[in-house]
Amino acid sequence: NHDIDGDLTEMLLTEDEIHAKLAELARRIEVDYDGRKPLLVGVLKGAVMVMADLARELKIHADMDWMAVSSYGAGTKSSGVVRILKDLDSDLTGRDVLIVEDIIDSGLTLSWLRENLESRGAASVEICALLRKPEAAKVDVDVKYVGFEIPNQFVVGYGLDFSEKYRNLRGVGILAPHVYS
Ligand code: PRP
Ligand code: MN
Ligand code: MG
Repeated sequence: NHDIDGDLTEMLLTEDEIHAKLAELARRIEVDYDGRKPLLVGVLKGAVMVMADLARELKIHADMDWMAVSSYGAGTKSSGVVRILKDLDSDLTGRDVLIVEDIIDSGLTLSWLRENLESRGAASVEICALLRKPEAAKVDVDVKYVGFEIPNQFVVGYGLDFSEKYRNLRGVGILAPHVYS
């Protein structure tokens, strides 16, 4: 079966539902950052779709930059020790940084990233994540803008991958166990 949807047990969020939620978040961000031109920091690669859609939804000026990070060590992701694979091009001094993420799982990546960006002299660092799995949290991260809280299941699509696959799904779905077991 080469149909990408065939690998899902369920479509959790459709493209329309995601876009409607991002529009809601964008309205809040426009108000909160009025007159301040935030720097949106997308975390490669999962955040590409959220970044593209959220940024275009905003009706205020916003800069965009990208970081790629990876958990340190073999296999076990989210060890909490993160290394930078691609750093920002921007100077953060005095900037209002808004980190844009696809999902908060354990929270370890984001809690490290926030501290790292704060240490560069940003005026503020906030987080916008499309998805959060409350049951998977290992560390408490203060996320100002959350799209959806979802159950602790393996989700893919809209940027989220399993072994680099499924990022190009338009919605977010639950991966069928037969795919990874
Ligand atoms: C995923 C996801 C988040 C992070 C969340 O990225 O996109 O960035 O894990 O996990 P955490 O809350 O447990 O730290 P991944 O490391 O898979 O890289 P990718 O974005 O390139 O897929
Ligand atoms: Mn990621
Ligand atoms: Mg991934």
